[in-house]
Amino acid sequence: MLSKEVAALLNEQINKEFYSAYLYLDISNYYNDKNLNGFSNWFKVQAQEERDHAMLFLTYLHNNNEKVTLTSIAGPDKSFADFKAPLAAALEHEIFVTASINNIYEEAAKQKDFRTQQFLNWFIDEQGEEEKNAQELIDRFELFGTDARGLYLLDAELGARTYTAPSLVL
Ligand code: FEO
Repeated sequence: MLSKEVAALLNEQINKEFYSAYLYLDISNYYNDKNLNGFSNWFKVQAQEERDHAMLFLTYLHNNNEKVTLTSIAGPDKSFADFKAPLAAALEHEIFVTASINNIYEEAAKQKDFRTQQFLNWFIDEQGEEEKNAQELIDRFELFGTDARGLYLLDAELGARTYTAPSLVL
């Protein structure tokens, strides 16, 4: 049985992960509209990963006999000034999600909830990876994306990203 504090935070995290999927779909839509189909693909795959994260939190709660309460997912409120802006928004969002997961971990530690800490270890690693990927996209855009030919090649490369299921199975 989980403490009510930890269960509530895990429940809130489901919404945050689904919101992440919404945000990345919104970014995918933006790039699709600009005919940057590779960038659009990259964020569509990212949205699928976020949906997986939400489902992992939901399943973890089910596996611990906790009641899950789903709440409304806010519409992303982003209008992007230029091609780089969504990349910066994605990094900012990942930093927010990292802080949220760290906060659950902190509460789990306070409650001596070792199982939840172990479950969250995967997400802590994953957040390191996601922040790195988001920063790399910005760096590579700054290097190559401001030149039409570089942007074309970067878009083609991002178009090759394919979905893979998460390594964590519950
Ligand atoms: Fe599920 Fe990108 O954090």
